[in-house]
Amino acid sequence: MHVLIVGNGQLGKALYQVYAAKAQQTTVWAQPACDITQPVIAAHVAALAPDVVINAAAWTNVDGAESNPDGAYAVNALGARYLADGCAQCGAALVHVSTNEVFAGAPGCSYREYDQRSASSAYARSKLAGEVAVTAALRELYIVRVAWLFGAGGANFPAKIIAAADRMGALRVVADEFGNPTYAADAAAAIAQLVEARRYGIYHLVNEGWCSRYQLARHVLESSGRGHIEVTPISHKEWQRPSQPPLHAVLVNQAGAALGIRLRPWAEAIEEFCQVEFAWQKS
Ligand SMILES: NC(=O)c1ccc[n+]([C@@H]2O[C@H](COP(=O)([O-])OP(=O)(O)OC[C@H]3O[C@@H](n4cnc5c(N)ncnc54)[C@H](OP(=O)(O)O)[C@@H]3O)[C@@H](O)[C@H]2O)c1
Repeated sequence: MHVLIVGNGQLGKALYQVYAAKAQQTTVWAQPACDITQPVIAAHVAALAPDVVINAAAWTNVDGAESNPDGAYAVNALGARYLADGCAQCGAALVHVSTNEVFAGAPGCSYREYDQRSASSAYARSKLAGEVAVTAALRELYIVRVAWLFGAGGANFPAKIIAAADRMGALRVVADEFGNPTYAADAAAAIAQLVEARRYGIYHLVNEGWCSRYQLARHVLESSGRGHIEVTPISHKEWQRPSQPPLHAVLVNQAGAALGIRLRPWAEAIEEFCQVEFAWQKS
């Protein structure tokens, strides 16, 4: 099986690690050579003719999408569609990666794979448009939603918390926004399992359990030897930002679990991530 990974960010890198360990034929396409907003990308996919394409490329600057919604849409919807078109031309399957933010996330809610979507921010609307676009183009399709992703070298929430703790010594963190922290390495391994299962559909491949940003920050600090750092819980209303993320877009992995694909609890994943990435630089 020849796997084409598109995108070289947190998830793209983790996917490459997983497939390299399997000694599987793997091709990685990344910017600047590969720009998925160019329609010609469909012909390039068709010419390569892989068995599976994994779209780990995305506009992930959630706040930046508010001032440039067309830019986000070009990558997250049109780019996804061009990859799906290329897959349709050569008979490849597509794994399209999406987000928990396609759901409204009303307080107390949690979402299974086939729940009603309702995106509000510009980023979320572009990701929802991507889901719609790839679904219209291709049947051999896995839509994999992840949430609060963290992986090696990424500008993710745990890395920002550690950097802020080392810079400021005390933190204020939002305590009324909830989600599923998800380790890119675990999501990548689960995606590989899913591809092997060959069961097309929609999946929520998140680490088990959920928490608030505040609880996540506390666990990151404790796991990286910074448990003494003071953290004050605040409301999202006290943390002004250009976009308003859904407050409770918590995903439930029902479809993957039915195939035996389960990710470990998020707290364990955070401990391993902190050990690998940050333990050597305890403050
Ligand atoms: N990060 C999260 O918390 C989170 C949460 C939920 C869902 N997701 C979804 O999970 C997936 C993976 O996210 P991630 O955290 O791995 O993202 P990431 O680290 O930001 O990586 C995204 C990758 O996409 C590439 N890219 C951007 N525009 C491109 C274009 N026009 N053509 C080709 N490549 C392009 C980026 O290249 P450059 O580095 O050169 O810009 C980067 O390699 C995305 O679909 C994202 O929406 C992420």
